[in-house]
Amino acid sequence: MSRTRPVIAIDGPVGAGKSTVARALARKLGFAYVNTGAMYRAVAIAARAAGIDPDSPALAADLERLLGRIRIAFDGERIALDGRDVSGEIGDPAIGDLASRLSTIGVVRERMRELQRAAGRDGGVVMEGRDIGTAIFPDAEAKFFLTADVNVRAARRHAELAAKGAPAAFEDVREQLLERDRRDRERALAPLRPAPDAIEIDSTASGVDAVVERMRRRIEELTRAV
Ligand code: DC
Repeated sequence: MSRTRPVIAIDGPVGAGKSTVARALARKLGFAYVNTGAMYRAVAIAARAAGIDPDSPALAADLERLLGRIRIAFDGERIALDGRDVSGEIGDPAIGDLASRLSTIGVVRERMRELQRAAGRDGGVVMEGRDIGTAIFPDAEAKFFLTADVNVRAARRHAELAAKGAPAAFEDVREQLLERDRRDRERALAPLRPAPDAIEIDSTASGVDAVVERMRRRIEELTRAV
């Protein structure tokens, strides 16, 4: 292991509060923040623009060609596709859904793994996603698995969409969230699940500050021990 600073992995299902917590934790530690879901979403934007059919039997080959010619760059909150800032577009729920579908394909996961491992190579990073502690950085110095009650998660997504000016019915948001969770958990490649050594935190009844502080203390203990 060549890095001198730790990698912090935060995984969990949709709406568990990963982004808010990861961002705040990164700020507190003075670490970089990497949102890996945004990368899958950028692939989905590129696939949609290229007219790729997610139901096509040639999907893996189509995606391989696509990945060979697109360029994804990211820096904190911003993500760019072929030099164009797509940070605003990635929040579209249809893109989240397509990202989840495309993320089941091996060539997509392989490319994302390369990008993510490169981003965390030197450590000093808080990386959030679904498989960071299990597949991307199984040797991360600290791993957290963030969960929350499904109704609370759906209510958060529902409020986020309304705030973005794209309101949706609560029941629809809840259904879509459950469907995406099911797909992310049941896929064959790097499914969403806690790493055996992950610390599970239920954020249902906790505020962001309390969760972040709990993580910070745990990181201090873990990194003191190495
Ligand atoms: O975190 P998010 O909702 O922006 O992620 C969108 C989709 O991307 C998610 O439903 C599954 C996929 N994803 C993944 O497979 N692995 C990751 N590390 C992050 C996201």
